[in-house]
Amino acid sequence: MDGPHGAGAQPGRFGPAEPAGADGAYPGPFGMVVDLVRNGGAVLLSGAGLSTESGIPDYRGPTGRARRAEPMTYQTFVGQTFAGGAEARRRYWARSHVGWRHVARAAPNAGHHAVAELERRGLVAGIITQNVDGLHQAAGARQVIELHGSLNRVLCLSCGQRTARGELDERLRAANPGWLGYADGEAAAINPDGDAVLADPAVERFRVVDCRQCGGLLKPDVVFFGENVPRPRVDDCYALVGRARALVVLGSSLTVMSGYRFVRQAAKLQIPVVIMNQGQTRGDDQAIAIIDAPLGPALTALLRRLGEVALERAPLNERHLLSQFLTTCGAIPGRPVSLCQTAQRW
Ligand SMILES: NC(=O)c1ccc[n+]([C@@H]2O[C@H](COP(=O)([O-])OP(=O)(O)OC[C@H]3O[C@@H](n4cnc5c(N)ncnc54)[C@H](O)[C@@H]3O)[C@@H](O)[C@H]2O)c1
Ligand SMILES: [Zn+2]
Repeated sequence: MDGPHGAGAQPGRFGPAEPAGADGAYPGPFGMVVDLVRNGGAVLLSGAGLSTESGIPDYRGPTGRARRAEPMTYQTFVGQTFAGGAEARRRYWARSHVGWRHVARAAPNAGHHAVAELERRGLVAGIITQNVDGLHQAAGARQVIELHGSLNRVLCLSCGQRTARGELDERLRAANPGWLGYADGEAAAINPDGDAVLADPAVERFRVVDCRQCGGLLKPDVVFFGENVPRPRVDDCYALVGRARALVVLGSSLTVMSGYRFVRQAAKLQIPVVIMNQGQTRGDDQAIAIIDAPLGPALTALLRRLGEVALERAPLNERHLLSQFLTTCGAIPGRPVSLCQTAQRW
């Protein structure tokens, strides 16, 4: 296949154990990813697959429930559809009041920590996340654009004020004494986006609260289906990708155009695209390398290999110091091990 990166640019799939060559280097997709990231300036585009190892289900992977739950649309939420309006908002907030606590309790996993460490080492130009769970920042990453907003904030549709979700959580508890205990027992499942499946009686007993400042309607500060990502945010992402030396997709099926457009942009600009995702994605034919493996171990292995490469290339008189540094920050264990040993444990 001739990809957008010229004749012969063959995307390769990386299974759990890509073998190292005789010189210890990795000639396949994993080696390509190591080389691209090592050069710096990579932009990362993350999706729900990065957070499944933190216990938050995705939409389209094995943990996904896409077909079991209809996500809320903006039009239904604000009452522009027949079934929308006050009842739809009550249903949304009741389910979300249960589901959000599940997301709020989730902790960043090895993949989020590896991303933050790549950023600390100056290898990342920016992170665009489609996730609304705040786990990149919880792991210490700083340059994060939340493409679809965050469940950790609430937006007033009238006055535009943004408030912390924790504050709304307290107000909803106060307005619904005893309800959480009752609803928790009733909750059948936790869906993506901090949504829980609740039976009708639990929803009917739930009371919604409005903006404290102006009495307006409150909405989570996330982009619902049927709603556009604010233009300035999209433009920031285009600018970031336009300057990138590589685009690395982490755990996204790229089904949603909102994220996929950046893969198309990169490919058009001949910026190499790398996909790290378990299972197929819509961008596979535009990638120069595909790592089809769980992200926690794969990103940890990437960090480790970057540490080894840095050590191999360091001048002899600096190796000892660098080795100490890399060992302290966990990039390599006590002594350099080849990725093969790591990989075989996957
Ligand atoms: N955590 C969250 O914030 C969250 C969760 C669900 C959905 N969403 C929203 O829904 C939309 C979903 O689109 P998407 O493309 O991000 O998700 P998606 O569900 O369409 O795709 C996730 C992909 O990740 C893969 N995957 C799952 N676990 C993995 C792992 N441990 N390692 C490697 N790959 C793994 C899956 O096989 C799948 O291909 C996004 O726009 C997002 O806003 C957010
Ligand atoms: Zn308001």
